[in-house]
Amino acid sequence: YPSICVYFGVTECWLLGCLLILFNVLLLYFTATTLERRKWQKMAKKTGNPHVAYPQNYRFILDQPKKCEHQKPFVVVIVPVAPQNTEARNAIRTTWGSDELVWDKLVLVLFLLGSQSANETLQEQLQNESREYQDLLQSNFLDSYRNLTIKTMVMMEWLSRNCRQASYGVKVDADVLLNMKNLLRMLVSLKSLQHNYITGLVLSGNIVSRDPSSKFYVPQDVYPKYRYPPYPLGMCYIFSMDLPEKILHISWHIKPIFIEDAYLGVCLKHLGIAPKKPPNSGLFVVKPPQRFNRCYYSGRIAILTDSQTQLISYWMDFHSTKRTC
Ligand SMILES: *[C@@H]1O[C@H](CO)[C@@H](O)[C@H](O)[C@H]1NC(C)=O
Ligand SMILES: *[C@@H]1O[C@H](CO)[C@@H](O)[C@H](O)[C@H]1NC(C)=O
Ligand SMILES: *[C@@H]1O[C@H](CO)[C@@H](O)[C@H](O)[C@H]1NC(C)=O
Repeated sequence: YPSICVYFGVTECWLLGCLLILFNVLLLYFTATTLERRKWQKMAKKTGNPHVAYPQNYRFILDQPKKCEHQKPFVVVIVPVAPQNTEARNAIRTTWGSDELVWDKLVLVLFLLGSQSANETLQEQLQNESREYQDLLQSNFLDSYRNLTIKTMVMMEWLSRNCRQASYGVKVDADVLLNMKNLLRMLVSLKSLQHNYITGLVLSGNIVSRDPSSKFYVPQDVYPKYRYPPYPLGMCYIFSMDLPEKILHISWHIKPIFIEDAYLGVCLKHLGIAPKKPPNSGLFVVKPPQRFNRCYYSGRIAILTDSQTQLISYWMDFHSTKRTC
Protein backbone atom coordinates (compact mmCIF):
# COMPACT_ATOMS: atom_id res chain seq x y z
CA TYR A 1 0.00 0.00 0.00
CA PRO A 2 1.17 3.61 -0.57
CA SER A 3 2.76 5.21 2.44
CA ILE A 4 -0.33 7.32 3.21
CA CYS A 5 -2.12 4.07 4.05
CA VAL A 6 0.13 3.63 7.04
CA TYR A 7 -1.91 6.28 8.84
CA PHE A 8 -5.30 4.95 7.76
CA GLY A 9 -6.98 1.63 7.60
CA VAL A 10 -7.32 -0.18 4.24
CA THR A 11 -10.96 0.82 3.75
CA GLU A 12 -10.23 4.51 4.31
CA CYS A 13 -7.38 4.26 1.88
CA TRP A 14 -9.62 2.85 -0.82
CA LEU A 15 -12.15 5.58 -0.18
CA LEU A 16 -9.47 8.24 -0.45
CA GLY A 17 -8.26 6.75 -3.71
CA CYS A 18 -11.78 6.77 -5.12
CA LEU A 19 -12.29 10.38 -4.10
CA LEU A 20 -9.05 11.35 -5.80
CA ILE A 21 -10.11 9.68 -9.02
CA LEU A 22 -13.53 11.29 -8.86
CA PHE A 23 -11.92 14.69 -8.30
CA ASN A 24 -9.69 14.20 -11.34
CA VAL A 25 -12.60 13.19 -13.52
CA LEU A 26 -14.59 16.24 -12.47
CA LEU A 27 -11.60 18.51 -13.08
CA LEU A 28 -11.15 17.07 -16.57
CA TYR A 29 -14.85 17.48 -17.28
CA PHE A 30 -14.90 21.13 -16.22
CA THR A 31 -11.77 21.95 -18.19
CA ALA A 32 -13.25 20.33 -21.28
CA THR A 33 -16.59 22.12 -21.02
CA THR A 34 -14.91 25.46 -20.34
CA LEU A 35 -12.69 25.02 -23.38
CA GLU A 36 -15.72 23.97 -25.43
CA ARG A 37 -17.65 27.03 -24.26
CA ARG A 38 -14.70 29.32 -25.10
CA LYS A 39 -14.46 27.86 -28.58
CA TRP A 40 -18.20 28.20 -28.92
CA GLN A 41 -18.24 31.83 -27.78
CA LYS A 42 -15.47 32.68 -30.23
CA MET A 43 -17.41 31.07 -33.05
CA ALA A 44 -20.68 32.69 -32.01
CA LYS A 45 -18.98 36.08 -32.07
CA LYS A 46 -17.93 35.48 -35.65
CA THR A 47 -21.15 34.11 -37.06
CA GLY A 48 -23.88 35.26 -34.72
CA ASN A 49 -25.37 32.93 -32.18
CA PRO A 50 -27.12 29.97 -33.84
CA HIS A 51 -29.09 29.43 -30.65
CA VAL A 52 -32.20 31.51 -30.51
CA ALA A 53 -34.35 31.74 -27.47
CA TYR A 54 -38.07 31.39 -27.40
CA PRO A 55 -38.79 32.01 -23.72
CA GLN A 56 -42.46 32.72 -24.49
CA ASN A 57 -42.44 35.97 -22.64
CA TYR A 58 -42.78 38.35 -25.54
CA ARG A 59 -45.81 40.56 -25.64
CA PHE A 60 -47.65 42.35 -28.40
CA ILE A 61 -47.16 46.09 -28.77
CA LEU A 62 -49.62 46.28 -31.66
CA ASP A 63 -52.36 43.69 -31.82
CA GLN A 64 -55.70 42.75 -33.36
CA PRO A 65 -56.90 40.30 -30.73
CA LYS A 66 -60.57 40.26 -31.77
CA LYS A 67 -60.22 40.49 -35.54
CA CYS A 68 -60.40 36.76 -36.22
CA GLU A 69 -63.29 36.25 -33.85
CA HIS A 70 -65.28 39.05 -35.52
CA GLN A 71 -64.51 38.33 -39.16
CA LYS A 72 -64.56 34.52 -38.98
CA PRO A 73 -62.17 34.00 -41.90
CA PHE A 74 -61.69 30.64 -43.59
CA VAL A 75 -57.99 31.37 -44.14
CA VAL A 76 -55.66 33.64 -42.16
CA VAL A 77 -52.56 34.77 -44.03
CA ILE A 78 -49.68 36.00 -41.90
CA VAL A 79 -46.86 37.95 -43.55
CA PRO A 80 -43.69 38.31 -41.45
CA VAL A 81 -42.08 41.60 -42.40
CA ALA A 82 -39.48 43.98 -40.95
CA PRO A 83 -40.97 47.00 -39.12
CA GLN A 84 -39.36 49.54 -41.45
CA ASN A 85 -40.56 47.75 -44.59
CA THR A 86 -43.73 49.80 -45.13
CA GLU A 87 -43.25 49.54 -48.89
CA ALA A 88 -43.63 45.76 -48.87
CA ARG A 89 -46.80 46.00 -46.77
CA ASN A 90 -48.29 48.59 -49.11
CA ALA A 91 -47.40 46.49 -52.16
CA ILE A 92 -49.30 43.54 -50.67
CA ARG A 93 -52.25 45.69 -49.52
CA THR A 94 -52.74 46.98 -53.04
CA THR A 95 -52.20 43.64 -54.82
CA TRP A 96 -52.96 40.11 -53.62
CA GLY A 97 -53.86 41.27 -50.11
CA SER A 98 -56.75 43.37 -51.32
CA ASP A 99 -59.26 40.54 -51.82
CA GLU A 100 -61.21 39.74 -48.71
CA LEU A 101 -63.59 37.37 -50.39
CA VAL A 102 -62.25 34.66 -52.69
CA TRP A 103 -64.61 32.01 -54.10
CA ASP A 104 -67.09 32.93 -51.32
CA LYS A 105 -64.48 32.30 -48.65
CA LEU A 106 -63.31 35.01 -46.27
CA VAL A 107 -59.59 35.72 -46.17
CA LEU A 108 -57.78 37.75 -43.53
CA VAL A 109 -54.28 39.11 -44.18
CA LEU A 110 -52.14 40.34 -41.27
CA PHE A 111 -48.53 41.50 -41.02
CA LEU A 112 -46.25 40.28 -38.25
CA LEU A 113 -43.43 42.52 -37.04
CA GLY A 114 -40.77 42.45 -34.37
CA SER A 115 -39.59 45.70 -32.91
CA GLN A 116 -36.84 48.29 -33.41
CA SER A 117 -37.28 49.77 -29.98
CA ALA A 118 -34.57 52.43 -30.37
CA ASN A 119 -36.42 54.23 -33.14
CA GLU A 120 -39.35 56.20 -31.77
CA THR A 121 -40.23 57.88 -35.08
CA LEU A 122 -40.63 54.49 -36.67
CA GLN A 123 -42.75 53.26 -33.77
CA GLU A 124 -45.03 56.29 -34.11
CA GLN A 125 -45.37 55.66 -37.85
CA LEU A 126 -46.29 52.05 -37.11
CA GLN A 127 -48.93 53.13 -34.63
CA ASN A 128 -50.39 55.39 -37.30
CA GLU A 129 -50.22 52.64 -39.89
CA SER A 130 -51.90 50.23 -37.49
CA ARG A 131 -54.71 52.69 -36.81
CA GLU A 132 -55.26 53.20 -40.53
CA TYR A 133 -55.22 49.58 -41.73
CA GLN A 134 -55.74 47.52 -38.57
CA ASP A 135 -53.61 44.74 -39.95
CA LEU A 136 -50.41 44.93 -37.88
CA LEU A 137 -49.26 42.51 -35.19
CA GLN A 138 -46.08 43.63 -33.50
CA SER A 139 -44.24 41.69 -30.83
CA ASN A 140 -41.53 43.19 -28.63
CA PHE A 141 -38.59 40.94 -29.62
CA LEU A 142 -35.84 42.51 -31.70
CA ASP A 143 -36.65 42.08 -35.39
CA SER A 144 -33.67 40.48 -37.15
CA TYR A 145 -32.84 37.70 -39.58
CA ARG A 146 -31.44 35.61 -36.73
CA ASN A 147 -34.72 36.00 -34.85
CA LEU A 148 -37.02 34.66 -37.58
CA THR A 149 -37.69 31.47 -35.63
CA ILE A 150 -38.98 33.60 -32.76
CA LYS A 151 -41.26 35.32 -35.26
CA THR A 152 -42.66 32.03 -36.50
CA MET A 153 -43.29 30.79 -32.97
CA VAL A 154 -44.91 34.10 -32.02
CA MET A 155 -47.15 33.62 -35.06
CA MET A 156 -48.09 30.11 -33.87
CA GLU A 157 -48.82 31.53 -30.44
CA TRP A 158 -50.98 34.32 -31.83
CA LEU A 159 -52.93 31.97 -34.10
CA SER A 160 -53.57 29.40 -31.39
CA ARG A 161 -54.75 32.11 -29.04
CA ASN A 162 -56.82 34.28 -31.40
CA CYS A 163 -57.77 32.35 -34.51
CA ARG A 164 -58.92 28.88 -33.61
CA GLN A 165 -62.17 29.24 -35.55
CA ALA A 166 -60.37 29.67 -38.88
CA SER A 167 -59.79 26.53 -40.94
CA TYR A 168 -56.34 27.22 -42.36
CA GLY A 169 -53.32 29.41 -41.71
CA VAL A 170 -50.77 30.54 -44.26
CA LYS A 171 -47.32 31.95 -43.63
CA VAL A 172 -46.01 33.84 -46.61
CA ASP A 173 -42.91 36.01 -47.00
CA ALA A 174 -43.32 39.65 -47.97
CA ASP A 175 -41.61 39.20 -51.36
CA VAL A 176 -43.98 36.49 -52.50
CA LEU A 177 -46.76 37.00 -55.01
CA LEU A 178 -49.67 34.93 -53.78
CA ASN A 179 -52.44 33.71 -56.05
CA MET A 180 -55.36 33.64 -53.63
CA LYS A 181 -57.75 32.01 -56.06
CA ASN A 182 -55.48 29.04 -56.60
CA LEU A 183 -54.69 28.81 -52.91
CA LEU A 184 -58.39 28.70 -52.04
CA ARG A 185 -59.08 26.28 -54.88
CA MET A 186 -56.52 23.87 -53.47
CA LEU A 187 -57.94 24.13 -49.93
CA VAL A 188 -61.54 23.75 -51.02
CA SER A 189 -60.61 20.74 -53.14
CA LEU A 190 -59.47 18.97 -49.96
CA LYS A 191 -63.22 18.56 -49.30
CA SER A 192 -63.19 17.53 -45.66
CA LEU A 193 -61.45 19.79 -43.17
CA GLN A 194 -57.88 18.62 -42.66
CA HIS A 195 -56.02 17.90 -39.45
CA ASN A 196 -52.27 17.70 -38.95
CA TYR A 197 -52.03 19.14 -42.45
CA ILE A 198 -49.16 21.24 -43.70
CA THR A 199 -48.04 21.77 -47.26
CA GLY A 200 -45.86 23.98 -49.43
CA LEU A 201 -42.68 23.40 -51.39
CA VAL A 202 -41.55 20.41 -49.32
CA LEU A 203 -37.78 19.91 -49.06
CA SER A 204 -36.66 16.41 -48.10
CA GLY A 205 -33.26 15.33 -46.84
CA ASN A 206 -31.60 18.76 -46.72
CA ILE A 207 -28.10 18.43 -45.27
CA VAL A 208 -27.22 20.52 -42.21
CA SER A 209 -24.42 22.99 -42.98
CA ARG A 210 -21.33 22.49 -40.77
CA ASP A 211 -19.31 25.18 -42.54
CA PRO A 212 -18.88 28.09 -40.09
CA SER A 213 -18.64 30.57 -42.96
CA SER A 214 -22.04 29.55 -44.36
CA LYS A 215 -25.13 31.66 -43.80
CA PHE A 216 -26.94 28.50 -42.68
CA TYR A 217 -24.20 27.16 -40.39
CA VAL A 218 -25.53 25.14 -37.46
CA PRO A 219 -23.03 23.52 -35.06
CA GLN A 220 -23.31 19.87 -34.09
CA ASP A 221 -24.22 20.60 -30.46
CA VAL A 222 -27.21 22.68 -31.58
CA TYR A 223 -28.51 20.15 -34.08
CA PRO A 224 -26.60 16.85 -34.13
CA LYS A 225 -28.24 15.04 -37.07
CA TYR A 226 -26.75 14.96 -40.57
CA ARG A 227 -29.98 15.94 -42.33
CA TYR A 228 -33.06 17.95 -41.47
CA PRO A 229 -36.41 16.20 -41.51
CA PRO A 230 -38.71 17.20 -44.41
CA TYR A 231 -40.04 20.74 -44.15
CA PRO A 232 -41.95 23.18 -46.36
CA LEU A 233 -39.80 26.04 -47.65
CA GLY A 234 -40.34 29.21 -45.60
CA MET A 235 -41.48 31.37 -48.53
CA CYS A 236 -45.00 29.97 -48.22
CA TYR A 237 -46.56 27.21 -46.21
CA ILE A 238 -50.16 26.36 -45.47
CA PHE A 239 -51.44 24.50 -42.43
CA SER A 240 -54.61 23.37 -40.73
CA MET A 241 -55.51 25.41 -37.67
CA ASP A 242 -55.05 22.55 -35.20
CA LEU A 243 -51.30 22.73 -35.83
CA PRO A 244 -50.20 26.08 -34.33
CA GLU A 245 -50.90 24.99 -30.78
CA LYS A 246 -49.26 21.58 -31.26
CA ILE A 247 -46.16 23.12 -32.85
CA LEU A 248 -45.93 25.75 -30.13
CA HIS A 249 -46.16 23.22 -27.32
CA ILE A 250 -43.64 20.80 -28.78
CA SER A 251 -41.22 23.68 -29.46
CA TRP A 252 -40.82 24.25 -25.73
CA HIS A 253 -38.94 20.94 -25.60
CA ILE A 254 -36.80 21.38 -28.72
CA LYS A 255 -33.65 23.42 -28.86
CA PRO A 256 -34.33 26.20 -31.37
CA ILE A 257 -32.23 26.90 -34.44
CA PHE A 258 -32.45 30.17 -36.33
CA ILE A 259 -33.42 28.53 -39.64
CA GLU A 260 -37.14 29.03 -39.25
CA ASP A 261 -38.45 26.47 -41.74
CA ALA A 262 -35.92 23.76 -40.84
CA TYR A 263 -36.88 24.21 -37.19
CA LEU A 264 -40.52 23.83 -38.14
CA GLY A 265 -39.54 20.53 -39.77
CA VAL A 266 -37.86 19.38 -36.55
CA CYS A 267 -41.01 20.25 -34.57
CA LEU A 268 -43.20 18.37 -37.07
CA LYS A 269 -40.93 15.33 -36.87
CA HIS A 270 -41.33 15.27 -33.08
CA LEU A 271 -45.09 15.48 -33.55
CA GLY A 272 -44.98 12.59 -36.00
CA ILE A 273 -46.46 14.75 -38.76
CA ALA A 274 -45.10 14.60 -42.30
CA PRO A 275 -45.60 17.66 -44.53
CA LYS A 276 -47.87 16.80 -47.46
CA LYS A 277 -46.76 17.28 -51.03
CA PRO A 278 -49.03 19.76 -52.83
CA PRO A 279 -51.27 18.32 -55.57
CA ASN A 280 -48.86 19.65 -58.18
CA SER A 281 -45.18 20.38 -57.66
CA GLY A 282 -45.22 23.53 -59.81
CA LEU A 283 -47.59 25.43 -57.54
CA PHE A 284 -44.77 27.01 -55.51
CA VAL A 285 -42.09 28.79 -57.50
CA VAL A 286 -38.74 30.03 -56.22
CA LYS A 287 -37.32 31.13 -59.58
CA PRO A 288 -39.93 32.44 -62.00
CA PRO A 289 -38.96 32.31 -65.69
CA GLN A 290 -37.54 35.43 -67.35
CA ARG A 291 -40.55 35.73 -69.60
CA PHE A 292 -43.33 35.98 -67.08
CA ASN A 293 -46.84 35.91 -68.39
CA ARG A 294 -50.45 35.67 -67.41
CA CYS A 295 -50.70 31.97 -68.23
CA TYR A 296 -47.75 31.20 -66.02
CA TYR A 297 -49.19 33.07 -63.06
CA SER A 298 -52.64 31.59 -63.51
CA GLY A 299 -51.34 28.11 -62.70
CA ARG A 300 -49.41 28.88 -59.49
CA ILE A 301 -50.04 29.54 -55.81
CA ALA A 302 -46.87 31.34 -54.69
CA ILE A 303 -44.12 32.97 -56.71
CA LEU A 304 -41.00 34.47 -55.18
CA THR A 305 -40.21 37.92 -56.64
CA ASP A 306 -37.06 40.09 -56.68
CA SER A 307 -38.66 43.35 -55.62
CA GLN A 308 -41.88 45.13 -54.82
CA THR A 309 -41.82 46.62 -58.30
CA GLN A 310 -41.74 43.14 -59.81
CA LEU A 311 -44.48 41.89 -57.50
CA ILE A 312 -46.75 44.78 -58.43
CA SER A 313 -46.01 44.56 -62.16
CA TYR A 314 -46.71 40.80 -62.30
CA TRP A 315 -49.96 41.31 -60.47
CA MET A 316 -51.04 44.24 -62.66
CA ASP A 317 -50.23 42.28 -65.79
CA PHE A 318 -52.42 39.45 -64.58
CA HIS A 319 -55.31 41.73 -63.70
CA SER A 320 -55.10 43.95 -66.77
CA THR A 321 -57.63 41.85 -68.63
CA LYS A 322 -60.56 39.59 -67.90
CA ARG A 323 -59.03 36.79 -69.91
CA THR A 324 -56.72 35.00 -67.51
CA CYS A 325 -54.92 32.87 -70.03
C1 LIG B 1 -36.03 55.59 -37.81
O1 LIG B 1 -37.13 55.35 -38.65
C2 LIG B 1 -37.33 56.33 -39.61
C3 LIG B 1 -38.64 56.05 -40.31
O2 LIG B 1 -38.72 54.76 -40.80
C4 LIG B 1 -36.15 56.33 -40.59
O3 LIG B 1 -36.33 57.31 -41.59
C5 LIG B 1 -34.88 56.60 -39.81
O4 LIG B 1 -33.76 56.47 -40.65
C6 LIG B 1 -34.74 55.62 -38.64
N1 LIG B 1 -33.64 56.01 -37.78
C7 LIG B 1 -32.71 55.18 -37.36
C8 LIG B 1 -31.68 55.73 -36.45
O5 LIG B 1 -32.68 54.01 -37.71
C1 LIG C 1 -49.01 60.03 -36.73
O1 LIG C 1 -50.31 60.60 -36.83
C2 LIG C 1 -50.42 61.83 -36.15
C3 LIG C 1 -51.89 62.23 -36.17
O2 LIG C 1 -52.48 61.98 -37.41
C4 LIG C 1 -49.52 62.87 -36.83
O3 LIG C 1 -49.64 64.11 -36.18
C5 LIG C 1 -48.08 62.36 -36.75
O4 LIG C 1 -47.23 63.26 -37.44
C6 LIG C 1 -47.96 60.98 -37.33
N1 LIG C 1 -46.64 60.50 -37.04
C7 LIG C 1 -45.81 60.03 -37.95
C8 LIG C 1 -44.44 59.63 -37.47
O5 LIG C 1 -46.10 59.88 -39.12
C1 LIG D 1 -33.49 38.33 -30.71
O1 LIG D 1 -34.47 38.89 -29.87
C2 LIG D 1 -34.06 39.00 -28.53
C3 LIG D 1 -35.27 39.52 -27.75
O2 LIG D 1 -35.70 40.74 -28.23
C4 LIG D 1 -32.87 39.92 -28.43
O3 LIG D 1 -32.44 40.02 -27.08
C5 LIG D 1 -31.75 39.39 -29.28
O4 LIG D 1 -30.69 40.30 -29.31
C6 LIG D 1 -32.24 39.15 -30.69
N1 LIG D 1 -31.20 38.47 -31.43
C7 LIG D 1 -30.73 38.93 -32.57
C8 LIG D 1 -29.63 38.10 -33.19
O5 LIG D 1 -31.19 39.90 -33.15
